[in-house]
Amino acid sequence: MSTPTNLKVSEPTKGVLTITLHRPEALNALNTKLLEELADLLDEIQSNPEVGAVVITGSSKAFAAGADVREMATLDAVGVLRDPRVDHWKRITAFKKPLIAAVNGFCLGGGCELAMHADIIIAGEEAKFGQPEIKLGIMPGAGGTQRLLRAVGKSMAMQMVLTGEPISAQQAMGFGLISEITIPETTVERAQKVAQQIARHAPIAVEMAKDSVLKAFDTDLASGLLYERKAFTLLAATEDRNEGINAFIEKRKPAFKGC
Ligand code: CAA
Repeated sequence: MSTPTNLKVSEPTKGVLTITLHRPEALNALNTKLLEELADLLDEIQSNPEVGAVVITGSSKAFAAGADVREMATLDAVGVLRDPRVDHWKRITAFKKPLIAAVNGFCLGGGCELAMHADIIIAGEEAKFGQPEIKLGIMPGAGGTQRLLRAVGKSMAMQMVLTGEPISAQQAMGFGLISEITIPETTVERAQKVAQQIARHAPIAVEMAKDSVLKAFDTDLASGLLYERKAFTLLAATEDRNEGINAFIEKRKPAFKGC
């Protein structure tokens, strides 16, 4: 993969890779190139055993202010239909390792949709979450109507999508969109700590647990429970399961190997 120009990527530290969206001239607006670089990077990380979890963040002013409106203006209906970004979003959705969004500043439109692709969102107290597309005569197009509803419930999702007005980090916390609020200076550090905690666990168990929780979004309870049970049973075939249980019994720290 060529070096990304719209992302800054850390070396893995304690099993955690940190990706920083970097288009300061446009408040990290998600243009096609940025999304492609992100999807390529996540594809690549997928098979890297040194990475157990990923933190994605932006700047103190903006996690991301949405899709790139200037780029969007160049697309007609056929352009939107054939938009390669759809495939990039699919690849981001398919990422199997835990993804934690550390959000400060504006988290709007496609930016909010990207944050909702994360498994956990931790936000600074000044963060603003919104789906302002309606103000542009359009609507969310990268999962906003679906994921927001599941995160905050119908009434608030409708209010955000139909008025285009953002909500505060405190409101986002109250509605369950995010899991923690920090002071802005420590948001990334806190997200990295949580990610490190996850990265210490058995990788196959982590992957299956994430997959099983996500299954709840698109299945009924009985099918979801069956899915969970099958994943739980499969884990019994892993060496890490023996290691985890033996380490507990022998009162020592487990040494997971990812097999
Ligand atoms: N796309 C392209 N450029 C953007 C951008 C975006 N989404 N958001 C901000 N920028 C650019 C601005 O044009 C400006 O560039 P110039 O200096 O060259 O003019 C620069 O970033 C700084 O922005 P502002 O001067 O506007 O900063 P501000 O602090 O006054 O306002 C803001 C910040 C309220 C976030 C405002 O920039 C804004 O409203 N941005 C657009 C938000 C939006 O509508 N997002 C939804 C996009 S559509 C979408 O996301 C569709 C989808 O779901 C797939």
